[in-house]
Amino acid sequence: MALGTAGFTAALGVQRMEDNGLKPENGAVIVTGATGGVGSLAIDMLAGRGYEVVALTGKADQADWLKSIGAARVMLRSELDLANIKPLDKGLWAGAVDNLGGDVLAWIASTMKPWGTIASIGLAASTDLNTTVMPFILRGASLLGIDSGYAPAAIREHVWARLATDLRPRHLDAVTREVAFDALPTEFDRFIAGQAHGRVVVRIAP
Ligand SMILES: NC(=O)c1ccc[n+]([C@@H]2O[C@H](COP(=O)([O-])OP(=O)(O)OC[C@H]3O[C@@H](n4cnc5c(N)ncnc54)[C@H](OP(=O)(O)O)[C@@H]3O)[C@@H](O)[C@H]2O)c1
Repeated sequence: MALGTAGFTAALGVQRMEDNGLKPENGAVIVTGATGGVGSLAIDMLAGRGYEVVALTGKADQADWLKSIGAARVMLRSELDLANIKPLDKGLWAGAVDNLGGDVLAWIASTMKPWGTIASIGLAASTDLNTTVMPFILRGASLLGIDSGYAPAAIREHVWARLATDLRPRHLDAVTREVAFDALPTEFDRFIAGQAHGRVVVRIAP
């Protein structure tokens, strides 16, 4: 359960990006919503595969934790100038795992390296996406939709097999916290306040 849908979805994102040419030697991979369940597991998996992982987070106080699970560098969302996103900016990323949508995803598209791949997983910030075709037709970037719910059975089995082998997270204990069922109201408050990080496994029986 520590992996759960978040772990499967992160691994499916890695699989789809690699199917589209992503390799560690292509350059850095950015992971947004980095302290979340999908983000933290994606960081762990990508670092384990030898990628240079850059974690984008809103939580400055979690920078050391993000580095401890595999991030080579940590960027803060507050450092980005999301009000002035150019159609094309300096190419920074060979790959991207995006959990936020909205302006952050638009900024990522504008900063992809040639032939870079973006795994669009989440909408934690917004369902909107206002971008241009420039990253796609002038840099060959790919925007890959990641849907865990209807993934075909053969792909599902392949991704779970990878989760047991080359994508097996190395820091699952550091990413996961176990809580009692009765503690759920407090846990939900932490999520609503934007203070949660990693995965929370709920112990149903005492
Ligand atoms: N496509 C699929 O099949 C699939 C499967 C599972 C999940 N999802 C989606 O993927 C996203 C991530 O899931 P998760 O389980 O990792 O969620 P989570 O544990 O709640 O993490 C989301 C992270 O996003 C950032 N965030 C939260 N609210 C934000 C806001 N208003 N603006 C900007 N950043 C915000 C925070 O990270 P930082 O503070 O570190 O930035 C937070 O830890 C969700 O949108 C979820 O619905 C999609």
